[in-house]
Amino acid sequence: MDSYLLSLRIFGEMTTLHMGSHLWVVINSDRVASEIISKRATITSERAHMPISSDLISNGKRSVLQRSATWSEGRRLMRPLLTGPLAKTFVKWQDLESAQLLLSCLQSPEKWYLHHSRYATAATYGVVAGHRLNKSEEELAEYRKVTKEFLASLFNTTVDFFPILSRIPRPLQLWRQQWEAVGLSHRRIFKKCWGPIKEKVEEGLAGDSWVRDVLLKSDKGREEEALYLTNSVISAGGDNIRMTLNTFAMVSIHYPQAFQKCRQEIDEVCGGRGVRLRLPGLEDISSMPCLCAFIKELLRWRPVVPLIPPHQLTEELKYAGFVFSVQTNFVINTVAICADCEQPEKFLPERWLDGSGNEAILTHRFWGFGGGRRVCIGYKAAQPALFLALSRLICCFDFELNGNYDSKRLNHGSTTEPFPVRVSKRSSTHEHLIWKEGAARGLC
Ligand code: HEM
Repeated sequence: MDSYLLSLRIFGEMTTLHMGSHLWVVINSDRVASEIISKRATITSERAHMPISSDLISNGKRSVLQRSATWSEGRRLMRPLLTGPLAKTFVKWQDLESAQLLLSCLQSPEKWYLHHSRYATAATYGVVAGHRLNKSEEELAEYRKVTKEFLASLFNTTVDFFPILSRIPRPLQLWRQQWEAVGLSHRRIFKKCWGPIKEKVEEGLAGDSWVRDVLLKSDKGREEEALYLTNSVISAGGDNIRMTLNTFAMVSIHYPQAFQKCRQEIDEVCGGRGVRLRLPGLEDISSMPCLCAFIKELLRWRPVVPLIPPHQLTEELKYAGFVFSVQTNFVINTVAICADCEQPEKFLPERWLDGSGNEAILTHRFWGFGGGRRVCIGYKAAQPALFLALSRLICCFDFELNGNYDSKRLNHGSTTEPFPVRVSKRSSTHEHLIWKEGAARGLC
């Protein structure tokens, strides 16, 4: 898939494809993405109708695929996650769960990829639910499978390219039964997650949280919408951060010099010679430009969302000598845009250190979070989530090669170790620090 997306660059900044009943325009450059998705956001923020991914698999309720009329209310409810008191609560959970991540890596380093997954889900779950994630590994695996199946359905079925097919009589819709069954199984797993969250709020046992303070306070109170919205946030937050942390593990073995450079920077601030050893925290962001650039390069080097869901045009658009009619679907080709730089295959964090100070702003000249009105609701939370986890892992653990691997194969969908890495504590002093910080947070 990625090499096909990359190959589309030979057609220039835009590739037009007549697929299904509408024109599809794949955007391959930062410049065109800015012009069409950002500057014309008022007319390029509708979602295409996707009868399979949206209607059948998502019951019409996964926010990321909803058409504007139904999406706007959910989006309004999600916004407090980005700003105000809940953004601070989010950071509190990221701090706690990253301390847990270190403890888990100490206790069972061979399960590093499962610890990444739990951290990513737990940090988002905490702010959403107001209590700690209390799911077993099996439940988390089941949850990941739902996200995997949903993502695999995008851009993958003829019916989603020919939405008109959803109008033929139901008995003739031969695909329907299969995808309806997938949708029902997703709903069952979402309900299993939603039930206890709601109960804890109703029993007065949930702390400050998005479900308690925003979602259930809204006057709508529609159960199905709440169930899907809650799971939309937990699964989107959990999975994208998980995949980025796994990309980090790959970079650690494939580009050890880049890893060491970040460690040196961290040590200078948090525990080199003459400095008392401590865990890095968010107050250190401005002192760690190399790490911030490293994080941005992780996102660029192997973008976790290769193709952004379609942004549909709601008015005719004249641009660059073309006339695009209503319902044209614009798709941001993240893979191609991320490769639009010098030596794209190389992992070079320095490319983000241009003196502008924008290395800590993940959406600056980076399209992996989408754009316009539909931009990822969690992009501001992603920065501290990645900064806390990675600064602390780099500070306290060594990552070494432990077998054969291919740096292009991250195997994000794997249920076992995606590639062979040996994780070990850096020293007994660092081990002591991990236990001390865990105890200070009531984790051990
Ligand atoms: C590496 C981290 C992340 C990446 C790369 C990422 C990427 C994306 C992308 C590409 C979209 C679709 C945007 C569009 O259509 O233009 C999206 C939507 C979304 N993301 Fe993220 N995301 C990340 C982290 C998070 C986090 C931490 C959260 C949790 C709060 C989150 C929650 C969501 C939600 C709820 C949506 C749907 C928004 C809507 O329907 O309006 N994401 N994300």
